[in-house]
Order: sequence, then C-alpha cells, then structure tokens
Amino acid sequence: MPTYSFFVNGSARTVQTRTDDQPLLYVLRNQLGLTGAKFGCGLGQCGACTVLVDGEAVRSCMMPVAAANGRGVTTIEGLGSPDQPHPVQAAFITEQAAQCGYCASGVVMATVALLARKPKATRAEVQAALAGNLCRCGTHQRILRAALRATG
Ligand code: FES
Repeated sequence: MPTYSFFVNGSARTVQTRTDDQPLLYVLRNQLGLTGAKFGCGLGQCGACTVLVDGEAVRSCMMPVAAANGRGVTTIEGLGSPDQPHPVQAAFITEQAAQCGYCASGVVMATVALLARKPKATRAEVQAALAGNLCRCGTHQRILRAALRATG
C-alpha cells in the first residue's frame, strides 16, 4: 500500500492508503480524525473542505494525498483553540458569521490564506478570495464583515 508522510498541524504523520489518488480530505477525516474540514460537493466547487498546504488554500477533496507528501498541512484544528482562537476565528465569532456552520471551517481557512498574503486585503479582494466558498444558509454578508474585521 502507498505510504505518505507529511506534517499536519505541526505534527509528523504517516498514513497508508489503498490507492495514490485517495483525496487528502478522506485521509484527514477518516484516518487522522480531523473532521473540521467538511465534505460538501466532493467536486472542488463549494470550498467546505478547504485546508492549507504549505500556506496555500486548497480544496482537499480534489488534492490526492500523494500531492501532500512531504508538505505541511494545516486544518482548522491547527489554528486556534476555544480559549485562544486565531484572530480570524475571533472575528468570525464576533460577527456571528456562521449559521449552520458547515462551510465555516473552509471559509476561515480561505480567509487565513488570503490575510497571510494580504493582511490589509480590501473588500473586493476578500470577495474575490471567498467567491468559491459557498454558504447555503446565505450568511455571506456576515462572512464578509468577519473577514474584513480580521484585516484590522
Ligand atoms: Fe471540496 Fe466541495 S467538498 S470543494
């Protein structure tokens, strides 16, 4: 069976999969117990599964685990804690940006990736960066306010 090693939230992890095209999302959720990244569409179209790979936001349902070999993966579990939320998580809490919350981890991860590149991102840049993260509850305005709050 193919074996892959990578860092997940700072810890070295090694996994085996039956095939080398196993999506990273499945490995994170089913083998490593990290269920923060969600399965939404499985087609790269909703953003619910967004995680960071070497700091870049990726759709983990579309990335084969083989592509993460030797790299650094960050999931929502690796950002902050209930006592010490990441600034983006804190902004989302303040703005009550989540309704059902299913999309929230993906939106937060996409926002973290954007603000790492552009800490003072404009409204238009935030909108462009999050355009592919869908919220079926329709809280996009609150999400936008939260992301802009996180720009400081
Ligand atoms: Fe990956 Fe929808 S579950 S983009």
